[in-house]
Amino acid sequence: MLKIVNVVGARPNFMKVAPVIEEMRRRSDRMLPLLVHTGQHYDEAMSDTFFEDLEIPRPDINLGVGSASHAVQTARVMIEFEQVLERHGPDWVVVVGDVNSTLAATLVASKMAVRVAHVEAGLRSRDRRMPEEINRLVTDALADLLLTPSRDAGENLLREGIAPEKIRFVGNVMIDTLYRNLDRARSSPILERLGVEPGRFAVMTMHRPSNVDDRATLSGIFDALETIQRRIPLVFPVHPRTRARIEEFGFNGIGKSQPNLILTDPLSYLDFLKLFSNSRLVLTDSGGIQEETTALGIACLTLRENTERPITVTEGTNHVVGNDPQAIEREAMAALDQPAKPGRVPELWDGHAALRIVDAIESA
Ligand code: UD1
Repeated sequence: MLKIVNVVGARPNFMKVAPVIEEMRRRSDRMLPLLVHTGQHYDEAMSDTFFEDLEIPRPDINLGVGSASHAVQTARVMIEFEQVLERHGPDWVVVVGDVNSTLAATLVASKMAVRVAHVEAGLRSRDRRMPEEINRLVTDALADLLLTPSRDAGENLLREGIAPEKIRFVGNVMIDTLYRNLDRARSSPILERLGVEPGRFAVMTMHRPSNVDDRATLSGIFDALETIQRRIPLVFPVHPRTRARIEEFGFNGIGKSQPNLILTDPLSYLDFLKLFSNSRLVLTDSGGIQEETTALGIACLTLRENTERPITVTEGTNHVVGNDPQAIEREAMAALDQPAKPGRVPELWDGHAALRIVDAIESA
């Protein structure tokens, strides 16, 4: 029996682990998967609804670490996770993505000589001001099996001196979840609830510290949204970090005097899938949404200076525009003036990545 501890912590982890756990459970004659939730995200809207929508089994263990500074949050996960590994003695720890929980679990497992498999290895923005870039670099330096979503990720790892036999190109597991849930998302009532019509609205998401933690930057982005919503209804589910900054900076009026700027709480997976897959344009600073829009051929503007997912630009529908308000307005208008750039779905974003991931772990 291969005993495997799978780790999740924050919202973007849940859609990556769902198909992996499902595939491991299918092999229950030879695999015993456990699920540990660090509790980095804990709100109903940021965590519980994803377990329900994605039919992820309840976590076997919840570390309940909650929000804190980077050092404190990472340290809390490490202290608790060490005890989990002592108690359960797994053969493998599987971590996904690039959040603080990913890094913390990897550090602990590596020092306890438990093998680590990293799903979504090798992505690089080359911007160390992003906390996620630090998390990616350290996780990949320590992991024993590096499971990459695209060929550029493998090239990054080789350039950093990672041994080629540790690297497996398995494709994008988040797209497994996307394809699996497209049908189920059709019955979501979110368009009617928000009063928008298919193809005739845009969607905005934003939570990066580089966009929301600085008053002037956030204010500039809101100016751009004000202009865009005059042209097309704009739905904006607000992340808790962004909500906190709106209150701190006194921007509470946002959305109140602009009838076409529709603010909501964060949405569940199925509601958000129904929403963005029916939208005309997506503006985002999320990593995952850059990939999901590429997979479905929806035009996407990324409000960052760079992306760790360049394949969404070279092959997909993504366009990196930065966070200058005039550039955002200009690019949004240009995107609305023309049909979406015809992208193609990248290699091995085919709905079967989880199968290759679990095969790779079993045969490593
Ligand atoms: C984290 C990840 C980021 C990911 C994002 C997705 C790190 C370094 N960052 O950023 O990579 O893109 O999740 O959402 O791991 N909060 C709540 N409820 C929650 C969780 C958070 O209200 O359930 C609030 C708290 O005020 C907290 C703030 O959001 O301080 C930030 O949460 P945190 O987990 O530190 O980082 P995110 O910005 O969510």
